[in-house]
Amino acid sequence: MSGLRTVAKAAFESVENFFDRAFGPELNPMHQLGALGWFFYWIVIVSGVYLYIFFDTGIHQAYESLEYITNVQWYAAGVMRSLHRYASDALIIVMILHLVREFVMDRYRGARWFSWFTGVPLLWFVFACGITGYWMVWDVLAQYIAITTTEWLDTLGIFGETIARNFLNPDILSGRFFTLMVFIHIAVPLFLLLAMWIHIQRQNYAKVNPPKGLAIGTLGMLLVLSFIKPAVSQPPADLSIVPAVIDLDWFYLAAYPLLDIIPGLTMWAIAVGGSLLLALLPWLPPRRREAAAVVDLDNCNGCGRCVDDCPFTAVILQQRTDDTAFSEEAIVNSSLCTSCGICVGACPTSTPFRRTSELVPGIDLPDQGMQALRDDVLAAAAKLSGETRVIVFGCKNGPDLQRLNGPAVAAMELQCIGMLPPSFVDFLITRHHVDGIFLTGCTLGDCHNRLGNKWTEQRLAGERDPYLRERVPRERIGKFWAGLTHNKRLSQEVAAFQERIKGLPPYHRPSRKPSGQQPAESS
Ligand code: HEM
Ligand code: SF4
Ligand code: SF4
Repeated sequence: MSGLRTVAKAAFESVENFFDRAFGPELNPMHQLGALGWFFYWIVIVSGVYLYIFFDTGIHQAYESLEYITNVQWYAAGVMRSLHRYASDALIIVMILHLVREFVMDRYRGARWFSWFTGVPLLWFVFACGITGYWMVWDVLAQYIAITTTEWLDTLGIFGETIARNFLNPDILSGRFFTLMVFIHIAVPLFLLLAMWIHIQRQNYAKVNPPKGLAIGTLGMLLVLSFIKPAVSQPPADLSIVPAVIDLDWFYLAAYPLLDIIPGLTMWAIAVGGSLLLALLPWLPPRRREAAAVVDLDNCNGCGRCVDDCPFTAVILQQRTDDTAFSEEAIVNSSLCTSCGICVGACPTSTPFRRTSELVPGIDLPDQGMQALRDDVLAAAAKLSGETRVIVFGCKNGPDLQRLNGPAVAAMELQCIGMLPPSFVDFLITRHHVDGIFLTGCTLGDCHNRLGNKWTEQRLAGERDPYLRERVPRERIGKFWAGLTHNKRLSQEVAAFQERIKGLPPYHRPSRKPSGQQPAESS
């Protein structure tokens, strides 16, 4: 399975590389699928509210009001109608891509089960919104959907009398029943919104807004499509005849032809059983979970940086439980922790400069502690030779690091690049353990642990605590966010970096300031 997943991941990344080249990593739509889902949702809501002003909810008037919208007020309400339809279709596309991608990228299991599990009802809500939307047009497509859906519902046998009989002839169909459909089409999106909100509750800084450029570009494309190919109705519904040719919307209605050939109860078993199976995927097959981060109270001052940086809302601050002067302490909810180590990279006590023999930070990973990392890095650095000794730090979800090892290069694999405290870079360079540090990991904008490479960039740029001190020569730091597919390029980038540092003058620490003004080593 893991081999298959690696191939699928690489396939996704190849497609995404194309978008990276076209738009740059920040605007890559494949990195923004959830955010685009939210964006399309809002377009559907705004355009839907506008349409509702002109839409007549009466069974005989609905079709005519939509004809007015499309043909008379085509420049405003007509465009809104097209936007409403195309944004709904786009929502389906990004939702399915998002689902497959989270699965392929293995971002749904272990502590991440919650987002996956709560994503499954979203599928039902989105389809329910779309299907009831087509119903409201009351054309032949609506007629087909109404009859097929109600016949399917009737196979459950839970309604007092069959609902499908409402559509047997025009005299029976009541306006009240139609109004109920309209009400459902308005109510379901509200439940969808609530479900979408629940869906992101375990994501710190969830991306719910695409970057401005991507939002404008996508909206522009929808608008162009709306003008080129406006959404129109099919011939009006006529319950006295069976519609012959119907143009289906394959995004929402692809399963409908199956209802004609597969028994209703079997289709229920497929839909409900399939959803249950999907919802249970995070537990099948079980994955070995690495140990959650642990807090060491003796070293925690309650600064809250781990809380800010944890991508999965797994750390909170609580009132101090010991008798130190600090008012708060960090506490990890182990059931939410994915063991990414980003909190360790954020903790100010996680520094190799500490003079105590044991490096015990305020928060640490039991399976890859900071002490072990410092020991391993120093041992690896001691074996390097030449004038371009480089340690490459990468993450286990990123490029292949082993191929980089050589006489002058040693690669260290971390849980996530965000786990590396900037003080390690400072320590290794300013103490002359190596001549340069190279950082790599997932592609920018698509960290496996959501925020690892973003926080790393910000810490190096001095925009986020704990930041890399100014004294560290930036020309001795290289980075390349290689992802899974740029292994060859990564080797070239590391080689080019070694060439660059070869010509640099030796590093000398800045002269000491008068006593009292020297910055502390363990920042
Ligand atoms: C209306 C449809 C949906 C919308 C708008 C939506 C939106 C989002 C957003 C905004 C995020 C946070 C992304 C981030 O900041 O990293 C997210 C995460 C996630 N979504 Fe969805 N989602 C939808 C449907 C689904 C479905 C159907 C599934 C799968 C059954 C799913 C699975 C996930 C998972 C597993 C994550 C967490 C990824 C991680 O831990 O890094 N979503 N979604
Ligand atoms: S390792 Fe730290 S940052 Fe990562 S999920 Fe656990 S508590 Fe959050
Ligand atoms: S970052 Fe470190 S010191 Fe600050 S609250 Fe978290 S564990 Fe404690």
